[in-house]
Amino acid sequence: MAVLRIPSRTASNEGSVVRDEQEIRATLAGLGIDYERWDLSILPENAADLAPADEVLAAFATAIEEMKQRGGYTTADVIDVRPDTPGLDAMLARFDKEHTHSEDEVRFILAGRGIFFLAMDECVASVEVGPGDMLRVPRGTRHWFTLCDERRIRAVRWFQDTTGWTPHYTGTGVDAHYQPLCFGPAYLGPRVHSTLRA
Ligand SMILES: [Fe+2]
Repeated sequence: MAVLRIPSRTASNEGSVVRDEQEIRATLAGLGIDYERWDLSILPENAADLAPADEVLAAFATAIEEMKQRGGYTTADVIDVRPDTPGLDAMLARFDKEHTHSEDEVRFILAGRGIFFLAMDECVASVEVGPGDMLRVPRGTRHWFTLCDERRIRAVRWFQDTTGWTPHYTGTGVDAHYQPLCFGPAYLGPRVHSTLRA
């Protein structure tokens, strides 16, 4: 289940954290981004995490095909990233700077967690995604992505043309001002500020 954070547009409060599925969907729809929950329970236990990619793609074949029709996508695959994936740091470094793509970024999360930062006109919203979350970020949207602490993500991706997924960096540096703080199951709440000294 996703967690959406919308920063405040005024200095009077810290913004909002949205955990309700319908509210996340409605809020993101207003930003032009599709968010859905897809049912992973059609797979055997742990299969979303561990089953061969072909089995996962076959299990969701109908939904994957429907998504292709929706967005004009021609192919779908499974990306599988673990903490020991060779070149992981370099891979993450490609996508944790603000960029756009010339085609949509569509992800259905099978396992692991990550955060999409979405740069809007007046603010940067962030969506922490986890198993069962489907996010469709339209082409041209300024965004960046990083993994949560487990450094694990497995997701179905759709492409119009795989060359369109090359990141086009904006070079604004806005990404440097946002912490990749995940709100997942291990999250203990916001940092408590204290005047006590150690
Ligand atoms: Fe991207």
